[in-house]
Amino acid sequence: MTSGPVKAIATLTLLAAAIAAGLAGLNELTAERIAVNIAESQAQTLREVLPAGRYNNVPAMDIQQRDAPRLAPDEPTTIYRARRGSQPIATAIPVDAPDGYVSNIRLLVGLDTSGVITGVRVLEHNETPGLGDRIDTAKSDWLLQFSGLSASNPEPAAWALSNESGEFDQITGATITSRAALRAIRRVLDFHAEQGSTLFGATPAADSP
Ligand SMILES: Cc1cc2nc3c(=O)[nH]c(=O)nc-3n(C[C@H](O)[C@H](O)[C@H](O)COP(=O)(O)O)c2cc1C
Repeated sequence: MTSGPVKAIATLTLLAAAIAAGLAGLNELTAERIAVNIAESQAQTLREVLPAGRYNNVPAMDIQQRDAPRLAPDEPTTIYRARRGSQPIATAIPVDAPDGYVSNIRLLVGLDTSGVITGVRVLEHNETPGLGDRIDTAKSDWLLQFSGLSASNPEPAAWALSNESGEFDQITGATITSRAALRAIRRVLDFHAEQGSTLFGATPAADSP
């Protein structure tokens, strides 16, 4: 017959094993849930910057990787492609603005094949609440003004903040944030002007810096 202490230890061991197994399962579920949430949020942002109703593929699954230091200095950029059947419609291009006030600001810029901006959203930022965080369309409409513009509309010299003789008013009290975002959008326009025609093929060699 099993003695008292041995039985207690056996019970505790079984209990611990059951708890560990339960926690492992929970961890797996949580990780899965987080991955699903990230995928859903990415898909939502892609829908916001790409021209609704004009494409019928799944851009999150139709990507091209590019080494483009002007878009992201340290890692390859994933470019998302929107097509209708086999016809290229638009791309969504992430870009880093390392010159934000607090830290890097990452934007996602949608452009149709002629280089007209179809939408811009913030993917990541740490700008100050009440000041630079108005870059986020949940806080202000500032970023929405870029839809419909292109490298030649307004003319290149006007692609600057109004306190630098440009056409764009800065977010009040957040000139640095505004300038960083504007410059990042311009880098995407430049990249698209040079590389746009290659974005629907297979991943080519590195972009020029
Ligand atoms: C605590 C604190 C937080 C700030 N956060 C930001 C910010 O998120 N973005 C920004 O551009 N400027 C920020 N600024 C303001 C800058 O220091 C700078 O004054 C401002 O960008 C100048 O632009 P303005 O001409 O719009 O005032 C902050 C200043 C302080 C003191």
